[in-house]
Amino acid sequence: MRIIVVVGARPNFIKVGPLMPAFAAAGIDARLAHTGQHYDALMSDIFFQDLEIPAPAWSLGVGSGTHAVQTGAAMVALEELLEAERPDALLVVGDVNSTLAGALAAAKIGVPVVHLEAGLRSGDMSMPEEVNRLVTDQLSSMLLTPVAGADENLIREGVDAERIHFVGNVMAESVLRNLPRIHERAVPHADILGSGGFILSTVHRPENTDHPERLAAIHAALEAAPLPVLIPVHPRTRALLEGLAGAGERNVHLVDPVGYLDMLTLQRAATAIVTDSGGVQEEACMLRTPCVTVRRNTERQVTVEIGSNRLVEATTEGVTRGIEQALASGTGWEHPARWDLEVSSRVVAALESGVLPLKGFA
Ligand code: UD1
Ligand code: UDP
Repeated sequence: MRIIVVVGARPNFIKVGPLMPAFAAAGIDARLAHTGQHYDALMSDIFFQDLEIPAPAWSLGVGSGTHAVQTGAAMVALEELLEAERPDALLVVGDVNSTLAGALAAAKIGVPVVHLEAGLRSGDMSMPEEVNRLVTDQLSSMLLTPVAGADENLIREGVDAERIHFVGNVMAESVLRNLPRIHERAVPHADILGSGGFILSTVHRPENTDHPERLAAIHAALEAAPLPVLIPVHPRTRALLEGLAGAGERNVHLVDPVGYLDMLTLQRAATAIVTDSGGVQEEACMLRTPCVTVRRNTERQVTVEIGSNRLVEATTEGVTRGIEQALASGTGWEHPARWDLEVSSRVVAALESGVLPLKGFA
């Protein structure tokens, strides 16, 4: 079997980490097409190094732009590639613009789409990722889901049950595979954090960054937190947060984005995490660090249900209360089903069972 795997943005690289060796071991010829949605060394190259991911066979150099500019450029480049290569399937992961571009380009020319992380829903159509998820899933020939609830979402939307495979969460497999590699790793930036515990924070969703009053409220809560706060800053957020921090940074420390192994080390060492990231909600769960998610909703509801995560509004009071709850919380939650080491094996088994073409292409 010959497949092309689309990656483009930071969380995509992590999701393919466990898959590529599993494909190689199963004799599946899988090659990476990197759209170039993320391109800074600390947003892209470092993950290939940390996770020992094979170099992309194609680097499409799409870069930044509006949603349509970025998605359109990735579609044009991927269509050309797919026409030239005609793989048996195109595997797309997650919910970023590169995911949608791959699904659209492939489905239109009859290349079956396999979507890993299918079926997650926030119910919030103002999130660009929710649009990407809905469209990608409707265009997919095979839908690989991370939680049981995702299967239910897809069935409700009319997806054929025979196309859905509950493989589990590949972000969880990645954490478990990499834990031995961070066993003795020094905590980055320990010099500025001291030894009495710290809060790790990441903020990059437009619903927070593009509303100055929300970002200021989150920042004010972090400044007032009872522990020092470390923020490895996403490039989207840097200038905005630096403006706020310039007003008198004391408790909040802004640093460059960190690599995956450093990020796992920080998440494991942190007393609590404050985030709007999708992947970090899942990793905090796996690493038993209480998480506060600053969003109106989450497609990772399972983490709230099991008690590793709580949703709070982007107000100073909301975030402050969330931090208090996280600091008082236990960490004995049960991990969701199939957040384990077998996810990539289940993906291989699903692919080997055969990818059904979309109706009309049979
Ligand atoms: C994207 C995803 C989001 C994901 C996030 C992961 C979409 C719609 N959004 O958001 O779901 O959570 O990636 O990190 O696909 N930039 C750089 N260097 C880079 C990449 C981006 O400076 O290497 C800056 C550019 O100014 C760019 C901005 O960040 O315009 C936003 O990048 P983009 O990929 O469009 O969206 P993200 O916010 O990163
Ligand atoms: N991450 C990282 N370094 C950072 C911030 C995040 O390695 O400085 C990792 C994080 O551990 C997780 C992934 O990036 O594996 C999540 O990506 P992001 O938050 O950018 O996107 P999302 O998951 O929200 O789509």
